[in-house]
Amino acid sequence: EEAGAARPFRQRLLVVANRLPVSAVRRGEDSWSLDISAGGLVSALLGVKQFEARWIGWAGVNVPDEIGQKALTKALAEKRCIPVFLDEEIVHQYYNGYCNNILWPLFHYLGLPQEDRLATTRSFQSQFAAYKKANQMFADVVNAHYEEGDVVWCHDYHLMYLPECLKKYNTKMKVGWFLHTPFPSSEIHRTLPSRYELLRSVLAADLVGFHTYDYARHFVSACTRILGLEGTPEGVEDQGKLTRVAAVQEHIKELKERFSGRKVMLGVDRLDMIKGIPQKLLAFEKFLEENPYWRDKVVLLQIAVPTRTDVPEYQKLTSQVHEIVGRINGRFGTLTAVPIHHLDCSLDFHALCALYAVTDVALVTSLRDGMNLVSYEFVACQEAKKGVLVLSEFAGAAQSLGAGAVLVNPWNITEVAASIGQALNMPAEEREKRHCHNFHHVTEHTAQEWAETFVSELNDSVVEAQLRSSK
Ligand code: G6P
Repeated sequence: EEAGAARPFRQRLLVVANRLPVSAVRRGEDSWSLDISAGGLVSALLGVKQFEARWIGWAGVNVPDEIGQKALTKALAEKRCIPVFLDEEIVHQYYNGYCNNILWPLFHYLGLPQEDRLATTRSFQSQFAAYKKANQMFADVVNAHYEEGDVVWCHDYHLMYLPECLKKYNTKMKVGWFLHTPFPSSEIHRTLPSRYELLRSVLAADLVGFHTYDYARHFVSACTRILGLEGTPEGVEDQGKLTRVAAVQEHIKELKERFSGRKVMLGVDRLDMIKGIPQKLLAFEKFLEENPYWRDKVVLLQIAVPTRTDVPEYQKLTSQVHEIVGRINGRFGTLTAVPIHHLDCSLDFHALCALYAVTDVALVTSLRDGMNLVSYEFVACQEAKKGVLVLSEFAGAAQSLGAGAVLVNPWNITEVAASIGQALNMPAEEREKRHCHNFHHVTEHTAQEWAETFVSELNDSVVEAQLRSSK
């Protein structure tokens, strides 16, 4: 770089999300190792390179002592990450409790956990108090690192209370909030005891964003029906303040040899009930039952990345999945091969890309899913093979990849089994046509484009609001 040459301006962005892109594992009193975190939000944001970004979030671990906290803060700084330290009790009440036992199932239309509905109702107040407290802790860290002109981009259902906390510190802060899950119909949202506070707080943001037009529409109707505010074509208006609402639409060779002679079907999911893994396995079982010809000619690789392992619902799900896999392999396996390879772990980026590339049929059968990045990643890796994507109509991605995918209702096992057959038997010409449609979409609508659009709309919203108030 020449002396004195001006550096190109890069907007400073503070990305605030519950989970940092790296999770920390303690190796000694003051030494830490960092692993990449799982989940669509992290994958999407890691693709965004055009900003001078800092990431603020929880490192996924309890660090009660000062020595540990200092060392971890230092290790994270190298990755441009800033930790929020949450103690065990807060994590239990805010993350396991309010976020993952209440908001997550509700936003995915799964209702409250079946067995302990009453217990959940009882612990609601204390969990919501912890949620607010945790959000305030995030706000404190953001405020400490904020510099004038920064854009603060808050993410997801964990941090719905954050926009309000931030604006209380500084009304001039540019604050955006983006939801990575569905936003449910207002009829579902209105069952939440904290329905008003969450909506009000999100509305403190200058711009709020959703994956699909339907989620944005649900949010606006929740604000009009529950808060009695006015919905406008641009967003929601409250006493002259407008909140804009927007929607955005060497392994390979090895693997080929390993599975030669068999068609490869792939599922990559976090081990979460919204992903519909048991339903997918039952559909595969039905397919094998009805199609003996295929029994030794197809293998299903199911990668199930463990998550939220302290929540009982997730523990139950793990045993259920293991039981079904065991049964199917027992029924249809031979001495030399089993129909399902099930892995309870995550894969590194290169291994995952290789897997996507050798796959003939990807099975994404979420019961509900905000977007589902796996379907995008699969399409992006399929230029050579032009495999088929079997996709749940309840994933946000169905609105963009629906025309190229084979859409299914994941609750209908007979239909999914038939779609597996359709996908495995699909003629090359049709596969190519469908793939081209999806590939075009995925390469046009990148994570970069998503982030750029959101941040520039957020900048515009703030300028517009200033103009309005000076009138
Ligand atoms: C979903 C959520 C993310 C979350 C991810 C992983 O994609 O929208 O906010 O980080 O799941 O879940 P976890 O609870 O392990 O962070």
